[in-house]
Amino acid sequence: MTTNRTFTMLKPDAVENGHIGGILDKINSAGFKIVAMKYTQMSKRDAEAFYAVHSERPFFGDLVQFMTRGPIVAAILEKDNAVDDFRALIGATNPEEAAEGTIRKLYAKDIGENAVHGSDSDENAAIEGAFHFSGREVY
Ligand code: RTP
Ligand code: MG
Repeated sequence: MTTNRTFTMLKPDAVENGHIGGILDKINSAGFKIVAMKYTQMSKRDAEAFYAVHSERPFFGDLVQFMTRGPIVAAILEKDNAVDDFRALIGATNPEEAAEGTIRKLYAKDIGENAVHGSDSDENAAIEGAFHFSGREVY
């Protein structure tokens, strides 16, 4: 994966609440091209591995429970400056602190159930994309 790409998940709350279309519309309108996408569900083992960096945090158990409770949409997105621009589009982790018009401001409930994931670096974007997609699933 090159540095003009980022990885996202529309989290179980967003899928449950019928926000797939609304969020994809925001992503498209902001100029991101979808180069890989799938509707899938993470196992406990998947979520523990994906969020291993947070394994010592007090919210880790809740996070794994949340991320495995229903289907997600995983995608790789392409745009100049993809990682930073996508983090700006989704807004702060806590929707109460997210800017107006951001995806989390529009669709997130709280700091835990916050609708969407965005990679925080080019390195993690590559790792996270490869976690969910094989090479032949990326275009
Ligand atoms: P993400 O990785 O999902 O894009 O979110 P982020 O970078 O904005 O936030 P991060 O610090 O990486 O946290 C990962 C996810 O863990 C849940 N969380 N819950 N209850 C809490 O205090 C808390 N803090 C974080 C959220 O689902 C957050 O997105
Ligand atoms: Mg993060």
